[in-house]
Amino acid sequence: MKTEVGIIGAGPAGLALAHLLQRDGIGCVVLEAQARQHIEERVRAGVLEQGTVDLLNELGLGERMMKQGLMHYGVELRFLGRGHRIDFADLTGGKGVMIYAQHEVIKDLVAARLKTGGEIIFEAKDVAVSGLDSEIPTIRFSQNGIGEELQCDFIAGCDGFHGICRDSIPAGVLKPYERVYPFGWLGILAQAPPASHELIYANHERGFALMSMRSPKISRLYLQCKPEEDLNEWADERIWDELDQRFAMRDGFSLMRGAVLQKGVTGMRSFVVEPMQFGRMFLAGDSAHIVPPTGAKGLNLAVADVRVLAAGFKEFYASRKRDLLGRYSEICLRRVWKVQRFSWWMTSLLHKFESDGEFDRRRQMAELDYVTSSRAGMTTLAENYVGLPME
Ligand code: APR
Ligand code: PHB
Repeated sequence: MKTEVGIIGAGPAGLALAHLLQRDGIGCVVLEAQARQHIEERVRAGVLEQGTVDLLNELGLGERMMKQGLMHYGVELRFLGRGHRIDFADLTGGKGVMIYAQHEVIKDLVAARLKTGGEIIFEAKDVAVSGLDSEIPTIRFSQNGIGEELQCDFIAGCDGFHGICRDSIPAGVLKPYERVYPFGWLGILAQAPPASHELIYANHERGFALMSMRSPKISRLYLQCKPEEDLNEWADERIWDELDQRFAMRDGFSLMRGAVLQKGVTGMRSFVVEPMQFGRMFLAGDSAHIVPPTGAKGLNLAVADVRVLAAGFKEFYASRKRDLLGRYSEICLRRVWKVQRFSWWMTSLLHKFESDGEFDRRRQMAELDYVTSSRAGMTTLAENYVGLPME
């Protein structure tokens, strides 16, 4: 088998890239290790930057999102028992974010690709890459027990943090940069109307909490926990009680409770490899970088990478020039590091760090006070949250 671009991974990065290439008339094949149902049901984050929303609409993929998604033009920061709204629309010239689950985006991208005859090979096993610095990089995999070989002009490594692409690059080429946080998030999806129509990020003495949502009837809630928290110790009642304490307001507040539909713990880390390329393989999305979820940036950063990559392939197939492809890593990393900075900053602003003393606690409260009372402070949060402009 032969194709122009072999895409490994059908997450937001791989699928968005496939659609961008399809628009530009460039051939590609997507290989995914999991079954279609698995990737369409995996619960992940759910905030789309304005630029991500605009791109999905431009590609004709936004119909369901525009109907079912919830456009938000602000968030609340809650601390010391009081709430403070950050008004995105006012601070960014009308921009906002779309609340729409990542797995719904995946469903839309998969359905649109299959409908237009684009290929996605699900349940591709033993995926391996070779000849990355040759003219014909090759992907080997097996499907239904039969070994296959896909020869490509280029490979896009969109296989997430635990994929094989990053590790296939010879030792010594990539430099990793990493920070692991001493806490995780315990997340639940609940059959309960959200208690507020916008997201609430709470900094509380007992730890961080976040109230998000998936629809007017379904809440998505998180609380800061130990990185290896044992879910068996968290009966539903205990989760609700803890959330209530962390969201408490001076003038009263309570969450609506309901059946817990899903429960999980995620670790928190910041991670980047440089460069995001080796020979004819380009890394995009979580395979090249991870952000802690506090800024809601993972999916958006993956989409931003593949916009740059698609522009590079377009230039190559139009003119055989590799100017943009040659600068892929440099262009992406400028944004990646700004988004890393923002995600780290939101994380440090809102979480309880056990190692902090009284000084750090007071400094953190002063920073929250500043960010919610100065227009400059609010703007820095707002413009990053709705998404920095694409270069
Ligand atoms: N072969 C083929 N596919 C693979 C392999 C492999 N060896 N390893 C992993 N995959 C698939 C995964 O099953 C997954 O569907 O690659 C896909 C990677 O998708 P994501 O992990 O969603 O990564 P990405 O597309 O970069 O999107 C980043 O997704 O990780 C979340 O919340 C994170 O929002 C962020 C976004
Ligand atoms: C979510 O809705 O899952 C969500 C929202 C905001 C975040 C992280 C996750 O910062």
